[in-house]
Amino acid sequence: MRIDADDPFALAHVVCVMPLVVLRTRRTVLRPFRVTDAADVAEGVDDEVLRWIPLPEPYDESAALTWCAEQSHHVRLSGEGQSWAICDPETDRFLATIGLTRTRWEHRVTEVGYWAAPHARGRGFVAEAVRMVAEWALREVDFARVELRAAVGNTASQRVAEKAGFTREGVLRNADRHRGRQHDLVSWSLVPADLD
Ligand SMILES: CC(C)(COP(=O)(O)OP(=O)(O)OC[C@H]1O[C@@H](n2cnc3c(N)ncnc32)[C@H](O)[C@@H]1OP(=O)(O)O)[C@@H](O)C(=O)NCCC(=O)NCCS
Repeated sequence: MRIDADDPFALAHVVCVMPLVVLRTRRTVLRPFRVTDAADVAEGVDDEVLRWIPLPEPYDESAALTWCAEQSHHVRLSGEGQSWAICDPETDRFLATIGLTRTRWEHRVTEVGYWAAPHARGRGFVAEAVRMVAEWALREVDFARVELRAAVGNTASQRVAEKAGFTREGVLRNADRHRGRQHDLVSWSLVPADLD
């Protein structure tokens, strides 16, 4: 059957899947998760990650193993997006995670999310990776918009969005619920016109 990619109703019934890619920034490599990342992933989830991201609490090595072996790959195979481990190209050691999620194929919109292990923070790796993944989505997968949403109080994340060249659009009031509290989110985006 031929699907009309410009017909949102036709597309809504198709499971679209992102091509599996390894991406390289100036200082890191973005590759699929491996089971051997589990210990580093578990160690990387500190209070700062749990403060902003909904993950199982406490986050232990068994949760990390499930993520590395299954869930991270399911993100792509289900059509939801794609997850990458941001790694040191010399040692292959896990530094941070980045992913595209909540993809709405019929609207050509996807959303980027991330966290970094404490030892890898403050060096600009994540901002570089956000720019790389967003440009790949816009240029290679033909998305029209990559969204980034971060809690108003998450200054480091707002800075990542800014450094990756995203445009701040405004505040989404009470848009998120985390740890039993409602939060305002700042909405950011990158669109193809920003790449010119
Ligand atoms: C958000 C996060 C990925 C940023 O990682 P990072 O590697 O430190 O990011 P970068 O080095 O590219 O930039 C961080 C910027 O924020 C600034 N920053 C960090 N913490 C800050 C704070 N508490 N207050 C003000 N600025 C802060 C840094 O100075 C840096 O800015 P600069 O480059 O102008 O000096 C990391 O802090 C993290 O994992 N946080 C927990 C999870 C999270 O919040 N994920 C995002 C959810 S939307």
